Amino acid sequence: MISFQDVSFRYPRSKWLFKQLNLEIKQNLITFIAGPNGGGKTTLGKLMAGILKPEVGTVLVNGLNTKDVELAEIGAKVGYLFQEPERQIFAATVRDEIGFVLELHEIKQAEITAKVDAVLKQFQLEHLANLSPLKLSRGEKQRLAIAAIMVNQPRFFILDEPTTGLDQERKEILSSVIERLQDEGIGMVIISHDQYFMQRHAQQIITVVGGEIVDVANCST
Ligand SMILES: Nc1ncnc2c1ncn2[C@@H]1O[C@H](COP(=O)(O)OP(=O)(O)OP(=O)(O)O)[C@@H](O)[C@H]1O
Ligand SMILES: [Mg+2]
Repeated sequence: MISFQDVSFRYPRSKWLFKQLNLEIKQNLITFIAGPNGGGKTTLGKLMAGILKPEVGTVLVNGLNTKDVELAEIGAKVGYLFQEPERQIFAATVRDEIGFVLELHEIKQAEITAKVDAVLKQFQLEHLANLSPLKLSRGEKQRLAIAAIMVNQPRFFILDEPTTGLDQERKEILSSVIERLQDEGIGMVIISHDQYFMQRHAQQIITVVGGEIVDVANCST
């Protein structure tokens, strides 16, 4: 599904972070990316989602070279949850945040309303529908960000540190969302430091330290 072929990447005015990286991510396994702060996890996730492009080498998403396609085209296939959910929330209300993507397409208003209602329910956001997203707690914002991405019906989902700031109950809700997505056949890469969360969901763990993949472990769950 996602393939890195001799990928090298560096940020402007920085040293190489990744050098000739090769990696395959399979659609049918939940892959975790682990490793210390600054190791390159977020950068790796952004390269997978086509948000960043490699300077050298190729990243293929479902056979498409991320260098050749528009971000929106990749975005329709790969959903990306930022490490800071605030970064992807901008509408006036929770309802509009979820409906936004649908408004861009030529979909009838009644159909949009029905779909938004279903997603609000699915992600337990109904009671917050008319609030400004800015008034939401971190956990609620994160649930909203995931809900807004899922409206796009991506086939693959990258989540960057999704449990940060969530209490036990919210983590449980997130876990059931992840299990549901997995049942629906949606591939996932989850960047996380959370050992409990990782043990619960990981089928493959890639450890990145200083821009190098130091370990790829398969886990039987
Ligand atoms: N926009 C940027 N410009 C320059 N350097 C950056 C930029 N973003 C990240 N870096 C650097 O790239 C390296 C990898 O950062 P990255 O955010 O990918 O790490 P991470 O593993 O996600 O860390 P964390 O666990 O703290 O989230 C770090 O040294 C970081 O300082
Ligand atoms: Mg990070």
